[in-house]
Amino acid sequence: MLEKVDEIKQQIEAFQTENPEELEAFRIKYLGSKGLIKGLFADFKNVPNDQKKEFGQRLNELKNFAQEKHDALKATATKAQSKANAPDDLTRPGEPLPVGSRHPISLVRDEIIDIFSRIGYSVEEGPEVEDDWHNFTALNFPEEHPARDMQDTFFVNSENGENLALRTHTSSVQVRIMESQELPIRIIAPGRVYRNEAISARAHCFFHQVEGLYIDKNVSFADLKQTLLFFVKEMFGEKAKIRLRPSYFPFTEPSAEMDVSCTICNSKGCNVCKYTGWLEIMGCGMVDPNVLENCGIDSKVYSGFAFGMGVERIAQLKFQVNDLRLYSENDVRFLDQFKAVF
Ligand code: PHE
Repeated sequence: MLEKVDEIKQQIEAFQTENPEELEAFRIKYLGSKGLIKGLFADFKNVPNDQKKEFGQRLNELKNFAQEKHDALKATATKAQSKANAPDDLTRPGEPLPVGSRHPISLVRDEIIDIFSRIGYSVEEGPEVEDDWHNFTALNFPEEHPARDMQDTFFVNSENGENLALRTHTSSVQVRIMESQELPIRIIAPGRVYRNEAISARAHCFFHQVEGLYIDKNVSFADLKQTLLFFVKEMFGEKAKIRLRPSYFPFTEPSAEMDVSCTICNSKGCNVCKYTGWLEIMGCGMVDPNVLENCGIDSKVYSGFAFGMGVERIAQLKFQVNDLRLYSENDVRFLDQFKAVF
């Protein structure tokens, strides 16, 4: 019997753990109500009387020993546990909060603004809900003229019967500025425009334009061409070329569409430029004398040019995005990619 006590004592002595589960198993095995030590106490009655005293003493010692061992192990285990939970370096900087990124359309718009600011253009804005005069009539779109159908319009119900629409282009800002500002005028007008079109990879019911307008004495088509060439080289690099094709807009005469050499394939031909090497990015022309007169400017003294470019188109070229819908879906996997740009 006494050997048994010694054996158990040795086991207890050798036992080590910092694991709370193992410690609990230890407690159950030795100190539990069905544990080994309780078992020895039960055997007490079988011990011969002359040995009872010593055995009893040894048994009590064993019990205390086991209890002390358990308590000591428990203390170190709890300490280890709380150490694991505590931050080990209180001076460590916190986790960074995720920061958003600027929208690619904003990035490109701001770059356009920046380029024109450097050559003396100031930035103007106009309302997105526009009246018929500023969006069409003053811009030389005659009443019932088919040219109004060039741009499918979202009309807006108004309380006083006024003809209101979501502006179909930023050219409406030209009119507002010519009506209200002193000459000479040199402005750009960035903004959102709306057209009633089915949404696809290549068309959307809203998109962004930057309008430009320069009115002074002796402004010529050569000035327009040089200004646009400067812009394109700043935007796409020294190697970029421009091409002007005759076109028609009611508010400019002559009118042109401007293509830029395809930056994606270096004009070799790709599916973005449809194997032509060129991409159209804006409409432009000399402001029609009728428009100047509509806005109270003497067309015999003053002349000017205007242009309107598509921001999405330019962003598409800069970032090689081939689906317009991505710009308005706000998928962070798309937006996150512009974090490091500019
Ligand atoms: N407003 C025209 C468009 O939306 C572009 C343009 C602007 C053309 C200024 C000529 C001059 O297509």
